[in-house]
Amino acid sequence: MGYRVAVVGATGNVGREMFNILEEVKFPVDKMHAIASRKSIGVEVSFGNEILKCEDLEQFDFSKVDLVLMSAGGSISKAWGEKIGAAGPIVIDNSSHFRMDPDVPLVVPEVNPEAVNSIPKNIIANPNCSTAQLVVALKPLHDEAKIKRVVVSTYQSVSGAGKEGMDELWDQTKGVYVLGAPPPKKFTKQIAFNVIPHIDVFMDDGFTKEEWKMAVETQKILDPAIKLTATCVRVPVMVGHSESVNVEFESPLDEDEAREILREADGIVVVDKREDGGYITPKESQGEFPVYISRIRKDPTVENGLAFWCVSDNLRKGAALNAVQIAQLLHDKGLLKRKVLA
Ligand SMILES: NC(=O)c1ccc[n+]([C@@H]2O[C@H](COP(=O)([O-])OP(=O)(O)OC[C@H]3O[C@@H](n4cnc5c(N)ncnc54)[C@H](OP(=O)(O)O)[C@@H]3O)[C@@H](O)[C@H]2O)c1
Repeated sequence: MGYRVAVVGATGNVGREMFNILEEVKFPVDKMHAIASRKSIGVEVSFGNEILKCEDLEQFDFSKVDLVLMSAGGSISKAWGEKIGAAGPIVIDNSSHFRMDPDVPLVVPEVNPEAVNSIPKNIIANPNCSTAQLVVALKPLHDEAKIKRVVVSTYQSVSGAGKEGMDELWDQTKGVYVLGAPPPKKFTKQIAFNVIPHIDVFMDDGFTKEEWKMAVETQKILDPAIKLTATCVRVPVMVGHSESVNVEFESPLDEDEAREILREADGIVVVDKREDGGYITPKESQGEFPVYISRIRKDPTVENGLAFWCVSDNLRKGAALNAVQIAQLLHDKGLLKRKVLA
């Protein structure tokens, strides 16, 4: 017996990965529903060998499902998340809307699995894609030597901005040497052959909201005492986010020890040879599950410092995979209930 599951945002980048991953990990599903906007009614998406026809969010009866994986953007989560949770299913939400709600656990299963033990609104939030891969890398190091401060610069792929972001990079790249790149619509400047130091809106202190999210989400998931400063940059890569990370610890932790700790940690693959190509790039992370760590080295500019490079598929660990891992965690703990339907 499996669960009745609905994926909201079924036609999107993250939604499509959700179907792929649910199938890859053989999550127990009895009945799957694909949900999108009214304009997508009848649009076909695939789930394993099944072809599903999309249903309209506004017409769907959520009381007939056990689990909802939601990735249709913050405004849809705001309008629908609590209503769906109140109808009975557990909602695992990918948007930023519920992440800092004290009554909503924000979960990365390798880091804070115990947070799912209390789900007052029937909603669990998935972190921002850049936070998810970062906290997987930080957790085992924090357990060993207690992190004081993190400085991170991100190199975020265009798929993090949805289908429209990918289309814009594709169209501009094709156009740039022919008729000239089409003007930016999704991004604020041309993304093809360029980088843009701006993701999400600006805040009063000069940080962007994406940078703020990395700081507060890391504190909520891992430890409120960690100080984190981020610079988030969009780069012309289709899939895979990269991060340059500098960490300052309370206790000494040498680079060999850190390498061994990371090798043993859940969800991490260390590829760290000090030679040409002895590191992972976003291209190689595409379609993969792990968080890859490379370039581990001492940061000699602080007392107990370490620097490393961290890469992961943002549509997988940064979104759909993490959501499915949360669902698996609920299943393993007996917290996901199969409804008995009349
Ligand atoms: N991409 C990432 O790396 C990433 C990582 C973490 C979290 N997220 C979050 O996941 C969410 C989706 O991201 P994405 O990259 O998959 O975006 P996307 O490719 O643009 O897809 C958006 C999805 O939302 C649906 N949708 C939009 N308006 C709707 C409405 N009024 N009613 C019902 N469905 C509606 C779309 O359906 P239609 O086709 O019918 O419009 C589509 O299925 C966002 O909240 C994003 O912040 C993304």
